[in-house]
Amino acid sequence: MSYEAKFRVWRGDDGDGELVDYAVEVNEGEVVLDIIHRLQATQAPDLAVRWNCKAGKCGSCSAEVNGMPRLMCMTRMSTFTEDETITVTPVRTFPVVRDLVTDVSFNYEKARQIPSFDPGDVQPGEFRMQQVDVERSQEFRKCIECFLCNNVCHVIRDHEENKPDFAGPRFLMRIAELEMHPADASDRRQIAQEDHGLGFCNITKCCTEVCPEHIKITDNALIPLKERVVGRRYDPVVWLGSKLGIV
Ligand code: SF4
Ligand code: F3S
Ligand code: FES
Repeated sequence: MSYEAKFRVWRGDDGDGELVDYAVEVNEGEVVLDIIHRLQATQAPDLAVRWNCKAGKCGSCSAEVNGMPRLMCMTRMSTFTEDETITVTPVRTFPVVRDLVTDVSFNYEKARQIPSFDPGDVQPGEFRMQQVDVERSQEFRKCIECFLCNNVCHVIRDHEENKPDFAGPRFLMRIAELEMHPADASDRRQIAQEDHGLGFCNITKCCTEVCPEHIKITDNALIPLKERVVGRRYDPVVWLGSKLGIV
């Protein structure tokens, strides 16, 4: 059954813009991205929107739907009532390029700042991993880099000034993945705390709530990483070593 949905969509750029009302046809089984595409095809050909896979796997179509950070391609129209107004706005934490498209280069800058996997002296084929370590890495590697977690984290969502010092949950999770990887030879605890702002995270878990891959970012990455940092700080051998300048 078709019906006309009331859509309110952000139109504008970084300097100026407004919410514009549209009535758009909806058919059974459609998702928000289908409606945005129909809007482009029928009424607003210059509407800017980023997408790629329409399967929840590329992470491109992140937006805020009725104020909730969502993938538009995975948000079914059947979750709304037919008389509801559906507001679609760009993710708030990153600057708007135009309409629903934001500049997420903040995230790529943070990614580049994290030293890559360090195999130490281990040669390919020499190392065997426990299943538990494999599963931990696999969970973190489900990330599709939609950046909804970084978008929703209050540390940077309302505090532009924190951005230079905070990598956001996505990349703190990457540091945790490397720190807990049994074959990674680098100690990541100091950079997590001092360069990437782990201490800013006060475990609100909003990042975990919005992750479309259902990764337990807070419980499985951020809290264990915090425990390791605290362990390092309060380890008397480490404390003495740091005083003597050898740790
Ligand atoms: Fe998206 Fe989840 Fe990856 Fe964050 S951790 S970027 S919410 S998939
Ligand atoms: Fe932010 Fe997630 Fe911590 S939302 S405060 S990184 S638990
Ligand atoms: Fe790829 Fe939505 S279009 S995740």
